[in-house]
Amino acid sequence: MRTHMTRAALVATLLVTASSFSIAQTKPAPKPSGKPAAAATAPSPFEPRVGQSGKDVVWVPSPQALVDRMLDMAKLTPKDFLMDLGSGDGITVITAAKRGARAMGIEYEPQMVELSKKNAQAAGMADRATFMKADLFETDLSKADVITMFLLPSINMRLRPTILELKPGTRVVANTFDMEDWEADEQQNAGGNCTSWCTALLWIVPAKVQGVWQTPQGELTLTQHFQFANGTLGGAQITDGRLRGEDFAFSAGGGKFQVKVSGTTMTGTGPAGAFTATKKN
Ligand SMILES: C[S@@+](CC[C@H](N)C(=O)[O-])C[C@H]1O[C@@H](n2cnc3c(N)ncnc32)[C@H](O)[C@@H]1O
Repeated sequence: MRTHMTRAALVATLLVTASSFSIAQTKPAPKPSGKPAAAATAPSPFEPRVGQSGKDVVWVPSPQALVDRMLDMAKLTPKDFLMDLGSGDGITVITAAKRGARAMGIEYEPQMVELSKKNAQAAGMADRATFMKADLFETDLSKADVITMFLLPSINMRLRPTILELKPGTRVVANTFDMEDWEADEQQNAGGNCTSWCTALLWIVPAKVQGVWQTPQGELTLTQHFQFANGTLGGAQITDGRLRGEDFAFSAGGGKFQVKVSGTTMTGTGPAGAFTATKKN
């Protein structure tokens, strides 16, 4: 993931450069004069600038090819509710709405919120693509089935504890930046004519399985590291323990287990047929 850190450094540089640029460009207030004011001219419409400052990260738009790839990886369906954290000009939210999903952008800069609303209107998607002027760190993400983000590694890491508490199975897709030792479940390149910011990473929030479970085959003792789990079942070592949301697959004693985790119960199949487990502690 070293390339992602290099990207991080680039964005950080862009952020600093963009802030100094905007400070240098600030014009002094006009001096009052005794002359009559010139005829009022209509204010020119807001034009976003790549690299313009944002609360925690500057605005750089994701390429359309990458947005398409991110939504493919999330397997977005019309039943889903997507939230884009730091939604910029609304490209991801509007693309999700075009696929039939309900989607909401969270964006701190009011002018970007207005711009994205106009873009959604122009695309005929204003019903399903909505935008809220808010700080992504103060926004309730619990209703989201899919979360998309193009932020910074440090912001991803600040969000990580919140994301891990979301309902198991929530899909999180990021442009370029990783979440350190929470390995991505999948990583893909946009391909085609994408030239920068072309990598998408997908995580699926894993169910919590760490602890001791009672099963007809004896105790199932699990140690979990994000989507990976190991431990023992009866006396047998667990291998290949892997979670994808609520789905938990593992091998023990030469047999394969495939279960669904629902809070404090697991139900599914093992080598001897039906398999159930109940959380002890
Ligand atoms: C790199 S841009 C990504 C825009 C869009 N998601 C995309 O992929 O094209 C990051 C966006 O996050 C916004 N932003 C920065 N800090 C924020 C915060 N704390 N809360 C909400 N939005 C924020 C910026 O204004 C900017 O529009």
